[in-house]
Amino acid sequence: MQYNIEEIKHKLKKYGQEHLLICYDKLDENKQNELLKQIDGIDFDLINSIYNKTKDIAKEQDFKVEPISFIDKYKLNDKYKYYEEIGKKAIRDGKLACVTMAGGQGTRLGHNGPKGTFDIGLESHKSLFELLCDYLKEESKKYNVQIPWFIMTSKQNNKDTIDFFEKNKYFGYEKNIYFFIQGELPMVDTEGKILIDEDGLVKEAADGHGGVYESLLKSGMVQKMKELGTQWVFIGGIDNCLVKMVDPVLMGIAIDKGVTAAGKSVVKANPHEKVGAFCKKNGRPAVIEYSEITDEMAEARDENGELLYGESHILCNLFNISAIERMGKTPLPYHSAYKKATYIDKDGNKVVPDGPNAYKFEAFLFDAFGEVDDMAILRVKREEEFAPVKNATGVDSPETARKLYNDFYKLN
Ligand code: UTP
Repeated sequence: MQYNIEEIKHKLKKYGQEHLLICYDKLDENKQNELLKQIDGIDFDLINSIYNKTKDIAKEQDFKVEPISFIDKYKLNDKYKYYEEIGKKAIRDGKLACVTMAGGQGTRLGHNGPKGTFDIGLESHKSLFELLCDYLKEESKKYNVQIPWFIMTSKQNNKDTIDFFEKNKYFGYEKNIYFFIQGELPMVDTEGKILIDEDGLVKEAADGHGGVYESLLKSGMVQKMKELGTQWVFIGGIDNCLVKMVDPVLMGIAIDKGVTAAGKSVVKANPHEKVGAFCKKNGRPAVIEYSEITDEMAEARDENGELLYGESHILCNLFNISAIERMGKTPLPYHSAYKKATYIDKDGNKVVPDGPNAYKFEAFLFDAFGEVDDMAILRVKREEEFAPVKNATGVDSPETARKLYNDFYKLN
């Protein structure tokens, strides 16, 4: 497509972003066109509005928060088998697809490459991608189906991810793997100016795990799922090496209760653990951040002694395909993170900052939960399902994840 440079200049002037063309003349024709395409695609009003929100210091809490009910997987007694049978049938009938979100930057881990390629140090030295793939292959065998695996990458790591799968012959699961790329948003400096990247193009960053619904829809993956007969979609992250994507009990509960979304929780390690918890906001399913609740709320318990806001959200959720279609069409709010970003300044010089200097905007997956009327929450065991790899050392690190993985599979 040909872009009209004069129109683009006019648009940039209107929004005070004329500097975006300073590298234009030095770029080759392809890159020039790419830059114009980027600029043409930017919703400057949206960027302005989310940038302006970074200046709101006090956040008004204008919603009513209530606890949400949950089911404990291990207190289901006879109902366990009942739900399990319903879910098993749906899985055998090919109704389940799995999505792994692997578009994150993994900044805290500091691994050079997509997080999924990281080796957590098991004796097998398998990467996170291979561990998840092994699990899916095993489950597919169990149910005598081929469970499709959709992997979300970002523009930054898509090529490296696909190269890694190719090099590893897709771990023997090639026919069932589909890649799709998540959306991006420009990064802006503290003055609201969009940054220019080292290659002279607009500096963009992945739009957060909340981008998953829209990108599933826009990339044609929802359509693909429908062709495959998918009705239920599990969405999880790449950085939980114990993620149980195929859970007949969770599916059985969702089907039996007639809800279009279900989420797994683990009980908070202590009332003040810094995790988000399932709740209801204005009567609809939601996740509340630890920073949004008072100490009193964090410590409140019900008549059975359970924390009212103790069901941690572990990024393990199941959706009916109809819910994904709805969520994919609903704009989510953007949250800003203050990050360190190398860029080209208005004089054309490369700037490598020492500390954070720019905002990255991200949507959160759980901000879409309110789109459904009700959500079934299933409490599972931390030691069976949650071994996150977030930090290079300490809590939620390769070391803790490795131990949890080895203990669960009784490898050591
Ligand atoms: P995190 O929020 O923990 O982020 O992602 P991260 O990118 O892995 O790590 P940090 O914060 O930079 O250290 C949770 C899950 O969501 C995915 C990640 O890949 C991970 O599986 N994710 C996150 C995306 O797919 N895209 C995003 O834009 C953000």
